[in-house]
Order: sequence, then C-alpha cells, then structure tokens
Amino acid sequence: KKVVLGYSGGLDTSVILKWLKTTYDCEVVTFTADLGQGDELEEARRKAELVGIKEIYIEDLREEFVSDFVFPMFRANAVYEGVYLLGTSIARPLIAKRMVEIAHETGADAIAHGATGKGNDQVRFELTAYALDPAIRVIAPWREWDLMSRTRLIEYAEANQIPVPKDKRGEAPFSVDANLLHTSSEGKVLEDPGEPAPDYVYQRTVDPEKAPDTAELVTIGFEKGDAVSVNGEKLSPAGVLTKLNELGGKHGVGRLDMVENRFVGMKSRGVYETPGGTILLVAHRGIESITLDRGAAHLKDDIMPRYAELIYNGFWYSPEREMLQALIDKSQEFVSGEVTIKLFKGSASLVTRSSPYSLYSEDLVTFEEGSGTYDHKDAAGFIRLQGLRLRTWAARNKRAR
Ligand code: ARG
Ligand code: SIN
Repeated sequence: KKVVLGYSGGLDTSVILKWLKTTYDCEVVTFTADLGQGDELEEARRKAELVGIKEIYIEDLREEFVSDFVFPMFRANAVYEGVYLLGTSIARPLIAKRMVEIAHETGADAIAHGATGKGNDQVRFELTAYALDPAIRVIAPWREWDLMSRTRLIEYAEANQIPVPKDKRGEAPFSVDANLLHTSSEGKVLEDPGEPAPDYVYQRTVDPEKAPDTAELVTIGFEKGDAVSVNGEKLSPAGVLTKLNELGGKHGVGRLDMVENRFVGMKSRGVYETPGGTILLVAHRGIESITLDRGAAHLKDDIMPRYAELIYNGFWYSPEREMLQALIDKSQEFVSGEVTIKLFKGSASLVTRSSPYSLYSEDLVTFEEGSGTYDHKDAAGFIRLQGLRLRTWAARNKRAR
C-alpha cells in the first residue's frame, strides 16, 4: 500500500506522515508544492529524507496556478459572498490534481491531506480527487485519529521524535493558508467576530493608515481577459501577480475581515489579504467596461455568484463549472487593452481605460452635437412603449384604491 501525502514540512503534516506509516503500515510519497506561499521548500525535503521517505516530490506550480486557475477565475470576476476573492478555494483543486497524478506515477492507491473535518478544504481536496479518479482512496487523518487537541498532537510529536517548533508549543495563535493570490488567517484569536483582528495577523499588506502619503499609478495590459503586462513590461502570469502583490502590499490594498458561510454549514470568521488580486479585479472590470457589450456584461454578472459558489464549494472539476467557463471564456475575445489604477492608502481606483476594441463611442454619448447615428426623437417612442404597462398599472391603481 502506498499513499501520496500533501506535505508542508510543518508540525501537523509531519505528525500525519508518522501517523500514516504506523496506522496504515504503508509507504508514503510526499508532495510539497510551491504556490507562492513563501516557505523554504528544501526544508520539507530534508525533513522527509530524515524519516526515510524515498519518493519526495517538490514542485514549483506557481505559473500553472496563475495561468490555469487564478486567471480563468478572474475572467469571471468571481467573488464569494460579495467580498471573498477565493484565494484558498482556487488553490485546492490544483494541489489535489497533482496528488492524483503523482499517485498514478508512483503506483499509489490513496492520497492523504491535512485538512480538518470541519472545513471547506477537505471537501475541495476530495471532490477534486474523485472527479479525476473515481477509484482513488482518500485518507483524512483529522477525521480518523484521536489527536483532537493541540496538546495531544504535541505529545504525539514528542513521543515520536518529531521536532516541535518553539512557537507551536503554546497554542498556535491562528491558522494560516498562503499562496500567490492571498494569505488567509482563521481560528484562535480570530474566533470572536465581535473582537477586532489584532494587527499582527496581517502579513503581506501594510496598515493602510501607515501606507505612503503619495499615490502610485500602475498600468496593466490585458489580452483576451488576462493581464499580460505591468507598467509596460511583459510578464508571465505568476510574474504579473507577484508584481501586483508587491505594489498592493506597499499601499495596504486588499485587506478583508469577514464572516463567511462554509459549505459544511457553519459560519467562520476569516482575515484575508489579497493585494494583487484586488488590483486585478478592479483592472479587469475596468477593461471589460469598455470592451463588453451590455448584454454580455450583465449575463456574466448574473452567473458570477453561481460560478464563485462552485469554486468555493469545491466543484472546480465539474460539468457545470466547465460549462460556465466556456461561456466566460467566449466573452473575453475582445477584452484587450490597458487600464491605469491609482493605489493610495488601501484603495485601488481605476483612473483610465483604453482598448483597440472599445465599444465606447464619444460621438454617441457626447452632450455636444453628434454625427447623427442617434436621433433624440427615437427616445420619445422608446420611453412611451417602455411606459405603456406602467401607465396601465397606475390607471388601475387609481381606479381601484
Ligand atoms: N475559509 C477560507 C476558504 O474556505 C480559507 C480556508 C483555509 N484557511 C486557513 N487559514 N486554514 O476558502
Ligand atoms: C481546515 O479546516 O482544514 C481549514 C479551514 C477550511 O477548510 O475551511
């Protein structure tokens, strides 16, 4: 028996590694992905080697993450419950996809993950796995073992020669998930939504009050709905997001403190930092505002919450998400051009947009005399017919009340 474990090298997944070997008496393949979380990954290799793991996968998935997951999602302007940019939700399907692929490459029959039994992430990992391999087995140690408290976990670690970092000895202050799109913090000191989040929770953005006193302009170039350049410099997908994170972080852009509805049923308070993603959303809506027809734009907005919910709930690999994606991608054919955004003390505001495919017509909209494609007199009949049913309704009300 062989299991592919999603392994960060941290305390929890190190305990899982040991627990898997003893509980299932199986060989373990470790998989550690660089999604831009900023951790030293060679540390994970060293730790895996130390406990005798022979098959160790460490991969830089940053480009694939942004080009095949983040960018397709941003074409839809996806936002969950009005504010959450889905930074964790969109990373899980990629991690699970690679785990399934590695299972196939190494002849493993199961994958294992370190998500708890209370959250969204278990659902996302497992739905992805089943959608990609109907026969795969999934092991979720947090739902099986009896190490339910931090104390028990640390006791287990110490009894099994797993090093426990000093800062983990007490209660960990909160749980963090990070990648190129965002940093998410939940739990512990954040559990009372009536208490403000302490300042030390924030990790990749400055406090907007302490951000520079002068605004900074950033110009983003788009091709078919995807950002391809920043300030005139062509960049790879991960390059674009890295650059926007740096600019947004410096100006305190993209902080969010919210209570969200988890798929499994409970409400949860989270603090998110999505500096580059927040800029990208404003920029993408800006370029769409001149390149999309109204009907296309409004249809996209209608389906967006549904699409966002699919991603949040773990249905990235599903027939309905793929159908919506086809619709969204089709809409992006002419979403090309440039926008400029002003960054200032936590805000990212659009200041200019331009496109060779713009539908915006100064001649049509001008308050001055236009060239005659629009006849003011047409509006009279337009309004009369739009108003027909309203007059009928008003007349009835007048009669009947
Ligand atoms: N609540 C967020 C989501 O469901 C993030 C979950 C992971 N974050 C964490 N700090 N463990 O997408
Ligand atoms: C977890 O429970 O593992 C993290 C939070 C979540 O998945 O929603």
